[in-house]
Amino acid sequence: MDWGMKNRLAQLIQPDGRALFLPIDHGYFQGPTHKLEEPGKTVRPLLPYADAIMLTRGVLRSCIDPANTKPVILRVSGGTSMARKDELDREGVTTSVKEAIRLNASAVSVSIFIGAPNEHQTLLNLSNLVNECEEYGIPVMAVTAVGAELEKREARYLALCCRVAAELGARVVKTYYCEEGFERVVRGCPVPVVIAGGPKVESELEVFEFVYDGIQKGAIGVNLGRNIWQHDYPVAMIRAIRAIIHENATPREAHDLFNEVKSAGEK
Ligand code: 5RP
Repeated sequence: MDWGMKNRLAQLIQPDGRALFLPIDHGYFQGPTHKLEEPGKTVRPLLPYADAIMLTRGVLRSCIDPANTKPVILRVSGGTSMARKDELDREGVTTSVKEAIRLNASAVSVSIFIGAPNEHQTLLNLSNLVNECEEYGIPVMAVTAVGAELEKREARYLALCCRVAAELGARVVKTYYCEEGFERVVRGCPVPVVIAGGPKVESELEVFEFVYDGIQKGAIGVNLGRNIWQHDYPVAMIRAIRAIIHENATPREAHDLFNEVKSAGEK
């Protein structure tokens, strides 16, 4: 592996082998998502606790201070919107590798939609992007997307998605957590796996429990958005999740930290 690729991966994956990525890319097809109406404001207090942020070029340019030194994972696929929900899988690559380099991205991310009508196109998006990015030492993170079909989040399907993404050359794979058989998802994927959160769940403890369990079963960390920044206490959430990832905190310990930060009034 070339120095540039190793260096970019080292910016993202910390010396303990773990990672906390904070995605704020949801607007690329959802529009002004709840609590992400002003992404710059939402993300500012959270940045110190994230290892990297994931976002589109538009939000990066207009909402993030160029003095920012947090690594950037640039979302480079899209071309769909919630106005055509049944076509969410019809993505293309929207942003060139030249642009990713100009924006000093540490990685790029692209969605794949396995089992959807446009599966083939999205897998070629990933493969072509890997071909180009490898030339410049830029890691590609594959986002195994389920579109509106959240019920697809089960081990057999996720294992298939993660393995295909890794076989096509993704350096990191983002997938969903599942209670049954998540260890099989990770074992079948020869590159690091990070967990997304999906729509906001009822209780913070539930989030701490799935992040903890996912890590025990081999994930290196998270790429988790809504369950952090849609929460009423996002700083308390990210600090508690960070403790699980980087300090091996248990869900109970993470919850105690959450309550401590919350009672200190830190939103
Ligand atoms: C949106 C994405 C998100 O980055 C990913 O799903 C993680 O965010 P969340 O935890 O809110 O699901 O790829 O398309």
